[in-house]
Amino acid sequence: MSGTPSDIKLIDENGIRIDGRKVDEMRPLKIEAGVLKRADGSAYLEWGKNKVIAAVYGPRECHPRHMQNPAKAIVQCKYNMMSFSVSDRKRPGPDRRSIEISKIISEALENVVFTENFPRTSIDVYIEVLQANAGTRVAGLTAASVALADAGIPMKDLVPAVAVGKADGQIVLDLNKEEDNYGSADLPIAMIPRTGEVVLMQMDGHMTMEEVDIALGYATKACREIYEVQKDALRRRYAVQAGAVDEDDSSDEEA
Ligand code: CDP
Repeated sequence: MSGTPSDIKLIDENGIRIDGRKVDEMRPLKIEAGVLKRADGSAYLEWGKNKVIAAVYGPRECHPRHMQNPAKAIVQCKYNMMSFSVSDRKRPGPDRRSIEISKIISEALENVVFTENFPRTSIDVYIEVLQANAGTRVAGLTAASVALADAGIPMKDLVPAVAVGKADGQIVLDLNKEEDNYGSADLPIAMIPRTGEVVLMQMDGHMTMEEVDIALGYATKACREIYEVQKDALRRRYAVQAGAVDEDDSSDEEA
């Protein structure tokens, strides 16, 4: 995040952002559950220009063994950005940023999964960012919780997440890449709409208390919308399973 160059205007005089949205409007969001056959659970998400896939394996025996917790499962998330997902080629492999994002997503998910049901195991969550345009950590978390539900892992609830920020001095919902780069604040948040519980909150930049109030209001409304898209993805997934025999599955088993 850096200061706005004077020639870049992120919000016009009518309150419209450079991608045509109003300040409290989210980018279009689509989620599909159960997209990978080999994973126990999976989800594919498109959110504006972000494209993210999440795959879940487990609960399975935790390796290395010294990481096992005799009282509960551990949730291990690996967030990764493909080399081609950003405008400058990203060097493959983990870096400080992806290690941080993996950690905060693991912690957010540990808050909702009934980990005590599966002692000594690991629940592995892989998040692959195929195309990035700001907000990939919240997109990854949103997809991962659908993939966990698709894997049939008992959990308190789904976890919708969104980033709120500040551009041209105004609070804006769901930052795009330009707003993330040239705006002055970024506040990713994950909230369970049913209980209001916040399982992830970060802050980059500065906001006044009044601005935080506005931002939380936008995020609360957006998380409710995202939650409906998540539930709809799972409903569609199980409507398909109930209604049709998967021909690819049977040919796989014969092979
Ligand atoms: O993606 P998110 O907003 O959660 O995380 P960020 O660290 O605030 O990154 C914002 C955006 O910067 C990403 O979504 C990418 O579009 C971009 N980015 C990039 O172009 N190259 C990187 N190595 C990392 C991020």
